Amino acid sequence: MPATTTSLVTWIAHAATRIDTPAGKAIYIDPWLRENPACPDGMKRPRQVDAILLTHGHFDHLGDTLELARLHHPTIVCNHEISVWLAAKGVENVIGMNKGGTVEVAGVRVTMVGADHSSGIQDGDELVYGGEPAGFVLTLPDGFKVYHAGDTNVFGDMRIVGELYRPDLALLPIGGHYVMSPTEAAYAARLLGIARVIPIHYGTFPILAGTPAQLREALAALSPPGPPVEVIDLPRGGTWGGGGRS
Ligand code: NI
Ligand code: MN
Repeated sequence: MPATTTSLVTWIAHAATRIDTPAGKAIYIDPWLRENPACPDGMKRPRQVDAILLTHGHFDHLGDTLELARLHHPTIVCNHEISVWLAAKGVENVIGMNKGGTVEVAGVRVTMVGADHSSGIQDGDELVYGGEPAGFVLTLPDGFKVYHAGDTNVFGDMRIVGELYRPDLALLPIGGHYVMSPTEAAYAARLLGIARVIPIHYGTFPILAGTPAQLREALAALSPPGPPVEVIDLPRGGTWGGGGRS
């Protein structure tokens, strides 16, 4: 299992994540930035967006996609229903796909996998059907694999994600209420057979009460005990990776 990647993995805040590849491409996942109370000020208006991956249609994930599309013309990857909605809003370069499919964007292979959640799009006063929620497995240019779980509860098919794709790093929600709490996330880490977790989707609002410390406790309490899992407790805006870069 590779110890690191030449790409940079930045947890911006909430579920928003940026991948910077060695070739200089910037890939955003769930770019909820300007209205995100946890987003560092310097990250609210990106200068470069080559691709956007959307896990589902909720406002805290769709986020700034419409404006970023207008400003930066990224390739957008999302489920079919969200792609139709974005196209109706005038957005171009949208790749609508579904679970089990793989596309390549900005030099990264992106596989859509399942999530146990919902995906409605709030469009003014209407709640529009947004298809099914998803997670993504990213195969970075150096082969390092990152699983971004999106919003989800723990579900048994995480075992398939682990066995089939063997991700090296997982970004898992831990806040609770709308997503997994640390107890469920620890069990998810076990199902995935993952060695490293970056906890996300916590602390943005008081109701998202799970903490990385609680995740460590829940991992230590797993019975029977499993292999060690490194909890990478990044600050918002913090970056992991970049190993081997000169
Ligand atoms: Ni959600
Ligand atoms: Mn959410």
